[in-house]
Amino acid sequence: MKAALEFCLLFLTLQAPGVLSLSTHVAVVYPQDPVLRMGSNLTASCWVHPDLGVHANSLFWTLNGHQLPSSLYKVLSPSNLSVTLVGLNASRQTSGDNLVCHNHKGHILAGSCLYVGMPPEKPVNLTCWSRNTKDLTCSWSPGGKGETNISTQYKLKYKLRWYGTEKECKDYSHTQPYSCSITQDLHLFTPYEIWVEASNQLGRATSDVIILDILDVVTTDPPSGVTVSRVGQLEDQLSVRWEAPPALKDFLFKAKYQIRYRLEESQDWKVMNDVGNQTSCRLAGLRAGTVYFVQVRCNPVGIYGSRKAGIWSEWSHPTAASTPHSERLMSCDSKSSGDSNSTLRRELKQFLGWVKKHAYGCSSMSMKLYDQWRVDMQKSPKTRNQVLQGDKS
Ligand SMILES: *[C@@H]1O[C@H](CO)[C@@H](O)[C@H](O)[C@H]1NC(C)=O
Ligand SMILES: *[C@@H]1O[C@H](CO)[C@@H](O)[C@H](O)[C@H]1NC(C)=O
Ligand SMILES: *[C@@H]1O[C@H](CO)[C@@H](O)[C@H](O)[C@H]1NC(C)=O
Ligand SMILES: *[C@@H]1O[C@H](CO)[C@@H](O)[C@H](O)[C@H]1NC(C)=O
Ligand SMILES: *[C@@H]1O[C@H](CO)[C@@H](O)[C@H](O)[C@H]1NC(C)=O
Ligand SMILES: *[C@@H]1O[C@H](CO)[C@@H](O)[C@H](O)[C@H]1NC(C)=O
Ligand SMILES: *[C@@H]1O[C@H](CO)[C@@H](O)[C@H](O)[C@H]1NC(C)=O
Repeated sequence: MKAALEFCLLFLTLQAPGVLSLSTHVAVVYPQDPVLRMGSNLTASCWVHPDLGVHANSLFWTLNGHQLPSSLYKVLSPSNLSVTLVGLNASRQTSGDNLVCHNHKGHILAGSCLYVGMPPEKPVNLTCWSRNTKDLTCSWSPGGKGETNISTQYKLKYKLRWYGTEKECKDYSHTQPYSCSITQDLHLFTPYEIWVEASNQLGRATSDVIILDILDVVTTDPPSGVTVSRVGQLEDQLSVRWEAPPALKDFLFKAKYQIRYRLEESQDWKVMNDVGNQTSCRLAGLRAGTVYFVQVRCNPVGIYGSRKAGIWSEWSHPTAASTPHSERLMSCDSKSSGDSNSTLRRELKQFLGWVKKHAYGCSSMSMKLYDQWRVDMQKSPKTRNQVLQGDKS
């Protein structure tokens, strides 16, 4: 609030090259720097020292540089002019609006900053997470429309449930508004009570209290060392390997991983959910000779015996790899073997369809089936014909 006030006064000085050199007693706007509720009315007065020889009816007012109509003025005395503003709009900036009294030449005699806004509403959506159990970070949203138009402070407060004293989080995020991290004196295996208090000069509001155990809100770093490589010459597969997030690697027995991948030119990610706690997985049903981007994330399910669903980490940095070109497709000469071209295309389409239905995910069972299917396809013309007959699409 202090900084904002200084800005408003600075603004006055800079905007007024023709400002009279005034002692504080030459002219005064009253009230000085009021904080007002949106929609309220304000009557302000500009009093000029009689020695200045200026009559009140020669003065005029501006609000944020715009002259206010004289119909709003009232001459209270030869040295005192008032202006009445009805249904005040919210301040356009938290540094306040400039209400200024001028003499007939336009010189600034005195001014006041108006802070017009609303009391805060109850903050909502308070959520917390702990990165690698080394901190407890919470974020929330301001309540209501989210904007009070005057300076509003948010304090994240907490205490240990059974015997704690109330404490205030100190480490407010510089990059993310409405977020604070507790980094010291963390207690595992003890529930915390956490809430947010919002206040400004027009009022205060407190969020609901949430109760949580740090172990139930753990998230990890993304998995490290993600590599993507070809599976021999299989043109529709890629193998993905990664390592458990190092900070918690010895505790992640039940961790779950997720992989997502997309074509280089596409924004649509395909997510593989059922990776389980393995640290490698095969992607199948991919397009031949195509670049794929792959990311992996970790959910520390059941860490230290927690019974809550963990919180997913961020995705790892994307790793890219390409599938091999399909030699059989490439070798087709469109003039001499058009038939074979279309047959192979249908067969490949059949592969992809089958894989999508049956071998999606990392279950080793369906991977085996899939490999078997390929082998059969290549060995036995009979199987192949059956499959092709089934493909009416
Ligand atoms: C503001 O002034 C208007 C017109 O004089 C009046 O109708 C209204 O009730 C006033 N509002 C408040 C909040 O005093
Ligand atoms: C000017 O008029 C206002 C409104 O009546 C009053 O509050 C204020 O004290 C007056 N100022 C002076 C210096 O007389
Ligand atoms: C509030 O804003 C409206 C629209 O910009 C304007 O017409 C009105 O005069 C403003 N009211 C005040 C008190 O400044
Ligand atoms: C209040 O603040 C918000 C966000 O800064 C702004 O979008 C809105 O225009 C402000 N209200 C007024 C009346 O200027
Ligand atoms: C709070 O969360 C709910 C549900 O996630 C969402 O619909 C709502 O928009 C959020 N409110 C704010 C103010 O962010
Ligand atoms: C995955 O889970 C199984 C059974 O819960 C466990 O035996 C195995 O060690 C875990 N693997 C990893 C990499 O943590
Ligand atoms: C072979 O496949 C390519 C790729 O789709 C196609 O453009 C071409 O027309 C096909 N050739 C014949 C003879 O069907």
